[in-house]
Formats: sequence, C-alpha cells, structure tokens
Amino acid sequence: VKRAGAAIRRAGTSDLDALTALWLECAADHAAFEPLFTLRPGAEACMRRVLAAQLADLDAAFFVHESAGGIDGFCSARIDRAPPIHPETLRAEITDVSVRAASRRRGIGRALVAAALEWARAREVARIEVRVVSGNALGQQFWRALGFDAFVDVLHRRL
Ligand SMILES: CC(C)(COP(=O)(O)OP(=O)(O)OC[C@H]1O[C@@H](n2cnc3c(N)ncnc32)[C@H](O)[C@@H]1OP(=O)(O)O)[C@@H](O)C(=O)NCCC(=O)NCCS
Repeated sequence: VKRAGAAIRRAGTSDLDALTALWLECAADHAAFEPLFTLRPGAEACMRRVLAAQLADLDAAFFVHESAGGIDGFCSARIDRAPPIHPETLRAEITDVSVRAASRRRGIGRALVAAALEWARAREVARIEVRVVSGNALGQQFWRALGFDAFVDVLHRRL
C-alpha cells in the first residue's frame, strides 16, 4: 500500500489519452454485467470531451497511479454544493475509480481513493459518496473494505 501511494499524483490535461483509455476499460467491465453501460460507436471521442471538461473543473480532481508500464489506475472525485437547508452544504463524490486488471489487488485502488479523500478533506468536506451498481460484486466488496456503507438505494424499473 505504501508503494502504491508513492506512485500516485494529481492528473492534468496531458493525461487525457490515458484517462480516456482507462475509463473505456472500466465501462467495458461494467457492460459485462449491465447492458446499460454498453458503449456506442463514437463513445471514445465523446468521453474524451467529458473528461477534458472534468479536468478543467475546479471542483473536480483526478488522481492517477503510474508504474513502469504507464498509468494503470485512476480515481476521480468532485465537490457538490447544496443550499443551506440541512446542516451539510458540501459533500464530495467519487465519480470513478478503475485499476487495470493486471495491476489489481496490490493496494492501488485503495491508495487512489485515499488521495481523493485527502483532497476532499482539505476542502472542508466531511462526507463522501460513491454510486456503485448493485450487481458489481467486486465494486461492492472494494467499497465496503474501504469503510463505505449503503446510504441511499437507487431503485429503477423498466417502462
Ligand atoms: C474496484 C477496483 C478499483 C479495486 O482496485 P484494486 O487496486 O484491485 O483494489 P485494492 O488492491 O486497493 O483492494 C482494496 C481492498 O478491496 C477489496 N477487494 C479488492 N478486490 C477484491 C476482490 N477481487 N475480491 C474481494 N475483495 C476485493 C479487498 O478488501 C482489498 O483489500 P486486500 O487486498 O487487503 O484484501 C478494481 O477492481 C477495478 O478497477 N474494478 C473494475 C472497475 C470498478 O468496478 N470500479 C468500481 C466501480 S464503483
């Protein structure tokens, strides 16, 4: 874990190609258990634009893990604001985390999330959320191992 943490840095626009490739891999993983995540033709160019916008967003941050073979994992987070109705007006959300299959189970995912949590804490955020597909057994185990618990159930139905 210590080694994984040492190879983590904040990402910038020069990482756009690597982030796009990793994001597409993550989407392909998800498409395997949920057809809603299937990629359309042209998805790559579209996602590249979405990621470029997120990279430019001051309320968002990307972290990458770099090993000899290049970037093999990333995590993105953003800050959300709410009107002053409830005590909490600021929260963070992990928008994506993905580690290349060959690099998994070495603490990289954990270290990437730790970097995102540190970033959020430094911005006075006291709570962070993540959306994880119910059928993503790997993701479910990962988030629970990192101390995350179920909070809101998102229910859906076909029309
Ligand atoms: C989820 C993911 C990011 C984890 O990355 P990783 O670098 O392998 O994770 P780590 O090595 O830091 O694992 C941290 C802990 O999570 C749990 N965990 C991770 N992979 C697991 C697996 N295959 N089975 C059971 N528990 C697992 C373990 O408790 C692990 O701690 P341990 O290795 O000390 O037992 C990676 O598997 C991935 O990219 N999956 C596909 C994309 C995805 O589903 N992302 C999450 C969507 S919300």
